[in-house]
Amino acid sequence: MADVAVQSHGRSGGIVMNDDWPGYSLDLFSYPAHYCGDLDCVFIPHGMIMDRTERLARNIMDDLGDHDIVVLCVLKGGYQFCVDLVDRIKALSRNSNRTIPMRVHFIRLKSYLNDQSTEDLHILGAEDLSFLAGKNVLIVEAIVGTGKTMETLLMHVEAFRPKMIKVAGLLVKRVPHNAACLPDYVGFEIPDRFVVGYALDYNEYFRDLNHICVISESGKMKYKI
Ligand code: HPA
Ligand code: MG
Repeated sequence: MADVAVQSHGRSGGIVMNDDWPGYSLDLFSYPAHYCGDLDCVFIPHGMIMDRTERLARNIMDDLGDHDIVVLCVLKGGYQFCVDLVDRIKALSRNSNRTIPMRVHFIRLKSYLNDQSTEDLHILGAEDLSFLAGKNVLIVEAIVGTGKTMETLLMHVEAFRPKMIKVAGLLVKRVPHNAACLPDYVGFEIPDRFVVGYALDYNEYFRDLNHICVISESGKMKYKI
């Protein structure tokens, strides 16, 4: 995304979920009963997220192995992806000669109300990132839409003069004005639909759902602010 002393080896933009992908029937999977009626379908099952994350960890290891990195987890939506990605990188580090010593730092971004992005983006916990100077930074984000949030965050992080910045995004959404900058590591490219689960929320609900699902209209009404 930003610089780079390190080459990515011809990576794809992730697994592409087409616009007409209907998802899987909810009856085929288990999910918390308290969300019964609030979801349309299972869009990406938890197991598939985990398998894709494992491969992203390997790609990151291939590119950054033997570099010290600071993982910058973008809360709240990025926490589950960050935990699972770091876990997979740790497993690879245990089982090979190449390792990635990692530090993990958390920042919080907030810009969504209901299913709409608001103009004012708040970055919390990012006031003093001076310890990033000269470091290799891996930003871990759950979802990238227009890329505006990511652009703002990158500018903010770049100001602290890290040696390198890479971005891992679990989901990239195909929105009308798509991202000028895309993550270096992408899990899935998805249509422009509001998804929840795997730590992605709708007004703080659905973070406790393992699969990535499409919220139903009645779900939106029920949890609207
Ligand atoms: N779901 C949850 N949070 C989000 C989304 C989404 O589809 N897009 C941007 N933030
Ligand atoms: Mg949110």
